[in-house]
Amino acid sequence: MVKSSPFVVFESPEAACKQVASEIAQIIRKRASLGRSTVLGLATGSTPIPLYQELIRLHREENLSFANVVTFNLDEYLGLDRDHPESYWTFMHRNLFDHIDLLPENIHLPSGMVPADEISAHCAGYEAAIVRAGGIDMQILGIGRTGHIGFNEPGTPIDSRTQRVHLNEITRQDAAPAFGGIENVPTQAITMGCGTILAARRIALLAWGEKKAEIVREAIEGIITDRVSASFLQTHRDATYFLDKESASALHL
Ligand code: F6R
Repeated sequence: MVKSSPFVVFESPEAACKQVASEIAQIIRKRASLGRSTVLGLATGSTPIPLYQELIRLHREENLSFANVVTFNLDEYLGLDRDHPESYWTFMHRNLFDHIDLLPENIHLPSGMVPADEISAHCAGYEAAIVRAGGIDMQILGIGRTGHIGFNEPGTPIDSRTQRVHLNEITRQDAAPAFGGIENVPTQAITMGCGTILAARRIALLAWGEKKAEIVREAIEGIITDRVSASFLQTHRDATYFLDKESASALHL
């Protein structure tokens, strides 16, 4: 069955992020008023930066509190210490966590330094922590040029769970400038699986720019296939693509 994913097109990434941030704020405030915490699934990379800037603004200027929020990041590079400048731990603190009132004990990322023989247990523990927190209320995603969500590269099954993965060459090339050369880019990562992501109650996939147009088209309009992990969002009942005009430019719908 071919079933496209819903999408909304905005003038700019900033306009799209204002909308996503306002949705997140609504969920946080509503759940806090009922005495409940909110569980957010978060992404790194260049795409969510304007979203994090808007969340910081809402915290500073509109009293949005993250004291009742628990976060789980999608992934972390294997072999990088938390304090490495390119670790996702560092990225999240620099771009969001250091600027809001999220409690340190509510922050979760896979560890990049877990010994090889403890990786399976570490991944199972990550899955268990998500379940203990009540499951993910809203998951933020970007999309790689390979169609990956998290680091679920082509060939990853729809029901995969948090695991160690090998990074695709295209993904490593895209990360090369930040690492000062492809030889410095880790070859492996730990990522939430496609099944972990699809278990979130709400999913927002963000994509900007011409570079993402073709893969966005395949993910939204193409068949559901493990060659494009993002196409699995077509099976989710509340997943929306937030696009700018450039990333939406190849859509036929
Ligand atoms: C990041 C992640 C990746 C990125 C994707 C897009 O935690 O899991 O799936 O979202 O590679 O990266 P950018 O946003 O840098 O284009």
